[in-house]
Amino acid sequence: METYLFHDTQLDLAAEGIKRGELVAFPTETVYGLGADALNEDAVKNVYLAKGRPSDNPLIVHVSSKEMVWQYAVGESEMVRSLMDAFWPGPLTLIFSVRPDSLLSKTVTGGLDTAAFRMPNHPLSLALISQVNTPLVGPSANTSGKPSPTTAEHVLHDLKGKIYGVLDGGKSNVGIESTVLDLSQPQSPTILRPGIITAEELEAVIGPVYLDANLSSETEAPRAPGMKYKHYSPDVPVIMVEGDTTVWNRAIQTYQAKGYRVGVLGNKQLLDKLSHLEFEGYELSTKRDVIDAMAHLFDGLRALDTQFVGSQGIILAETYPEIEQGIAFMNRLKKAANQTFFSK
Ligand code: TXA
Ligand code: MG
Repeated sequence: METYLFHDTQLDLAAEGIKRGELVAFPTETVYGLGADALNEDAVKNVYLAKGRPSDNPLIVHVSSKEMVWQYAVGESEMVRSLMDAFWPGPLTLIFSVRPDSLLSKTVTGGLDTAAFRMPNHPLSLALISQVNTPLVGPSANTSGKPSPTTAEHVLHDLKGKIYGVLDGGKSNVGIESTVLDLSQPQSPTILRPGIITAEELEAVIGPVYLDANLSSETEAPRAPGMKYKHYSPDVPVIMVEGDTTVWNRAIQTYQAKGYRVGVLGNKQLLDKLSHLEFEGYELSTKRDVIDAMAHLFDGLRALDTQFVGSQGIILAETYPEIEQGIAFMNRLKKAANQTFFSK
């Protein structure tokens, strides 16, 4: 199948494709989503096939207005209205119980009686949903297990030949997927996946928020099925390095001695301090800022992976304290690194 690259002026073509049941990836502020009509069972099934996604992992339903949610879900309340007013459109996904008469494809929810909704903060995704005039599913538009795409090129790298098109909206500026908040039990709003919107920011609006036990203990089963799978892994191994320049020197030299080509994902100062060594550097942020690092993490993993094709490469990545947005950054990095730290 030929995969078309649509520019913003070609939104109509992308919308027509989705109405016909085709898959079109679209830009959002977090990462690119693989769009399909959420009411079309065959199209939604094809999303799982194109990504190689396990069928028990439900999809997020993307809407272009708050009202659109209540055609498919129940659970509107004062608390929900204040959350939507504070964070929508934006990188917050909300899980509600599905209405018994909902027209959502059964495949969307992977057999659950709840569904996840998000109103993305990107003019092209909002325009696309409005033009198609049905909600769109939008799992991250990567091959299952690979880092999520933050550019149209990343999408083409993984899905060229498997989908109808990609709507190009430039770089996604948040860089990791939305915070997922389960509101299906309204007494205990629970974060199932951390994102740029933190527990503290949610609590400032609605009071106490819980964290899925899985996020602090590896042995607890996650409530978001997607959180149990291997994720965000480039083809080459990723190792987290915690410590000062001495530790970094040792880490780089250790892997070089083992015959690896070393890539380093780190802030500018770190890369400068290590510049006497030989490695492929990728600047995650200028000033060791976690929001900046988050925006570049997946691009960095993909860029180094591509550089190392055909050679024995390894990626060493800097860590951040697990507070505020650092929780989300480390959640993605730890999965990419399969929990592996360099031991001094
Ligand atoms: O930022 C994002 O959320 C991106 C962009 C494209 O919008 N989308 C995204 O979708 O990350 P996806 O499908 O890759 O991740 C959805 C996550 C998965 O971990 C899934 O298991 C969880 O949300 N999820 C979806 N529906 C759920 C439900 N009813 N109950 C629990 N978890 C659910
Ligand atoms: Mg994903």
